[in-house]
Amino acid sequence: MNDTIIVIDFGSQYAHLIARRIRELHVFCELLPWYTPEKDVMKCQPKGFVLSGGPLSIYENDAPMLPEYVLNSGLPVLGICYGMQALTYSLGGKVQPSQTREYGLAKIKVNLENPLIEDSSLNVWMSHGDRIEKQPPDWQILATSDNSPVAAMGNLDKHLFGLQFHPEVSHTNNGKEILRRFVIDICSCNPSWTPSSIIDTAIASIKHQVGSQKVLVGLSGGVDSNVAAALTDRAIGEQLHAVFVDNGLLRQGECEEVEETFRPLFADRLHVVDASKIFLDNLKGISEPEQKRHIIGETFIRVFESAAKACDNPRFLVQGTIYPDVVESRGKGAERGQVIKTHHNVGGLPSDMQFDLVEPLRYLYKDEVRAVGKTLGLPQKMINRQPFPGPGLAVRCLGKVTENMLQMFRQADSIFTQELSQAGLLTLSLPDEGYLTGTSQAFAVILPIQSVGVMGDQRSYQQVVALRAVTTDDFMTADWARIPQSLLAKISNRIVNEVNGVNRVVYDITTKPPSTIEWE
Ligand code: XMP
Repeated sequence: MNDTIIVIDFGSQYAHLIARRIRELHVFCELLPWYTPEKDVMKCQPKGFVLSGGPLSIYENDAPMLPEYVLNSGLPVLGICYGMQALTYSLGGKVQPSQTREYGLAKIKVNLENPLIEDSSLNVWMSHGDRIEKQPPDWQILATSDNSPVAAMGNLDKHLFGLQFHPEVSHTNNGKEILRRFVIDICSCNPSWTPSSIIDTAIASIKHQVGSQKVLVGLSGGVDSNVAAALTDRAIGEQLHAVFVDNGLLRQGECEEVEETFRPLFADRLHVVDASKIFLDNLKGISEPEQKRHIIGETFIRVFESAAKACDNPRFLVQGTIYPDVVESRGKGAERGQVIKTHHNVGGLPSDMQFDLVEPLRYLYKDEVRAVGKTLGLPQKMINRQPFPGPGLAVRCLGKVTENMLQMFRQADSIFTQELSQAGLLTLSLPDEGYLTGTSQAFAVILPIQSVGVMGDQRSYQQVVALRAVTTDDFMTADWARIPQSLLAKISNRIVNEVNGVNRVVYDITTKPPSTIEWE
């Protein structure tokens, strides 16, 4: 079993980031809400706890409290922001609203040598309203800032620490080193969470779960299903069958790429079902986006059902669920409010289709999924793909979906992504590297309107293509990508010259919110 750190989540926007930083140190960590029952937490056999920040003040009604088992465990604890205030409150120190809220960069001065922070002063990222006025008895102040009399504190004998600032955020200098010292030096975790160990553990667990039964995997062409399929194949080989449904709504060359990658691996255990005609017939005349999604979802189920029958009705189905999906679906669904787009219904299987699920990526973040894919030998282009919506081109050809629109889309989209790729802008450079360039998702959209143009000396009345490219970490909010103007000019030029039926190209410069990433 890998050494484990538990991050107790008090509702911080940075909680995932803490977990990811710890995983980057090759230490496994689980993000669990503060109200998780003690037995569920302790069965993970943690070697230490990190307490996340949170949006509330400790004095508010319903403010989350530090679970008792954390301190009772005698394990090292690191409280961050709200986590530090919860520690202070539980242990009899004093937390108070600060006169001035402290957001953004601050400088801390370290005034006591300690095992957590090596530097004598440090630029850090603060984001708090309350502050610690008095540390708990037996605790010492480790650092101060202009606005925080207790910017860091510790009970060194008991390996308990609190930080008012966020070491997980890239703006905090040496934040990663602080986390490393806590996780590796103080909690003595063995950094064994590597792609090879993840693969070994997953193989053992898949074998244990499925025994000698048959298993089915649905390939979508996306990173998660690609890696889940390759991993399960490594575990059980001949017992696994893969189905890839060509719904006719895929990008240029996509179906061929999936076949090229998986045919050598699966041979005749790969079943490519060409259902494009069925999908396009069912979508005929439909222009309302939610109706399109519904039809695609339904059609997928029917096609997949008959493919499963043809593979002898396997008992297990592999799903590419990843860790953020698992964390997000823990009970928050009901509070989510309005359905903006029904993403996750698409491609979902009905409850009367009885499969037991195999979820080999359940504990992995996306970057870990990619690292595992790379170690398994999947080609780079299959693991570095940008996300692609289940309903595919149906939501990128606005309005009614026709062969003609799909054809124009494929050409325009492939020019756009080719050019971005050549310019090195088809992936995102994370803020960690000090700047944010490239794109998290980039695609063309065919609009259901025509506009007047002039080609040669002739008036034209043709389709408009919109280009959408965004930068985002989580796809919940997004900014439009600042693609160099000269590149946009080249792309626009190529599209109007090479794609028959298009005479105008526009670039979408709206953020999410208020827009969404997709146009439908
Ligand atoms: P929006 O448009 O809501 O998109 O800002 C956020 C992310 O979700 C993807 N998306 C979908 N994915 N089925 C999917 O599997 C869908 O119906 C769907 N709609 C949007 C979108 O591509 C972006 O990554």
